[in-house]
Amino acid sequence: MPAATLSGLFPRTEGLRATVTLNNGVRMPWFGLGVFQIAGDTNTEMVVRMALEHGYRSVDTAALYGNERGVGRAVRGAGVPREQLFVTTKVWNDDMRRDRVELAFDQSRRRLGLDYVDLFLLHWPIAGKITASWQALEKLHRAGKVKAIGVSNFMPKHLDELLAAAEVVPAVNQIEFHPYLQSKALADYCRAKGIQLEAWSPLMQGGALLQDPALTAIAAAHGKTVAQVILRWDIQGGVVTIPKSVQPRRLAENAGIFDFSLTDAEMTTIAALDRNQRSGADPYHFNF
Ligand SMILES: NC(=O)c1ccc[n+]([C@@H]2O[C@H](COP(=O)([O-])OP(=O)(O)OC[C@H]3O[C@@H](n4cnc5c(N)ncnc54)[C@H](OP(=O)(O)O)[C@@H]3O)[C@@H](O)[C@H]2O)c1
Repeated sequence: MPAATLSGLFPRTEGLRATVTLNNGVRMPWFGLGVFQIAGDTNTEMVVRMALEHGYRSVDTAALYGNERGVGRAVRGAGVPREQLFVTTKVWNDDMRRDRVELAFDQSRRRLGLDYVDLFLLHWPIAGKITASWQALEKLHRAGKVKAIGVSNFMPKHLDELLAAAEVVPAVNQIEFHPYLQSKALADYCRAKGIQLEAWSPLMQGGALLQDPALTAIAAAHGKTVAQVILRWDIQGGVVTIPKSVQPRRLAENAGIFDFSLTDAEMTTIAALDRNQRSGADPYHFNF
């Protein structure tokens, strides 16, 4: 979608509540909180509660992160109607290998303490398990236990395999995505199939990307931080984003992306920063 059209979707008043409509009609916030590497349920509950108080409406967790209980406590205690919140969790690879996807979902749902999950993802494309695991997600979806189902770390080859036997097209593909890893062919593939892209490690885990000179210049031109420029670039380019922070100041900073727009020239400058550089595992070659 052209940047100009998308930026019109984010009036200042809507901000953190701005949603994209997924391919099954479910509305997902463009912006949310990731909770990978937030240790412990008590700590996680505190961070998620802070984020929700600040206006965040979407939280991304996973069975692997070991903090679903904390997420659930914060969500249940937020004083915000459940239907205004969006909770994502994921089935871990071991449970795909043992064909225990439905059981794993029930365990996640119980830890969260929620009647339903908004988005449930296959965390990684486990060879030989894609079709059966996806069919388990379709069953959960049919039963109304999840509002939307999707995948994570799926490359075109994995999506081809999944779609060959699928009744439901994944609503979302959550992938590592930031200015140094833009995966254009995969992004084009997902857009063509109606699969919403979601960026994990959008800030590349807070590393050297945040010192990039081109991004620093764009940030200075807007009186914004590099993190804000990157997160704005995500949503303006049609990519859902879920930065993680445990720091109140950064939770607020990261959410401050709805009161400015990047110009077409700035979007082009950022597009040129792609260098196919990963911080995490390669979905075609991982061993966990
Ligand atoms: N599906 C998958 O395989 C997968 C893989 C990885 C991540 N994820 C999801 O994506 C979410 C985000 O990715 P991520 O946590 O890996 O990395 P990230 O959001 O790119 O970066 C988080 C790191 O950056 C720091 N940070 C946050 N805001 C900042 C700011 N404004 N300025 C400077 N530093 C800042 C954080 O430190 P502080 O906390 O100290 O602020 C933290 O160390 C995860 O939490 C998880 O939900 C999914």
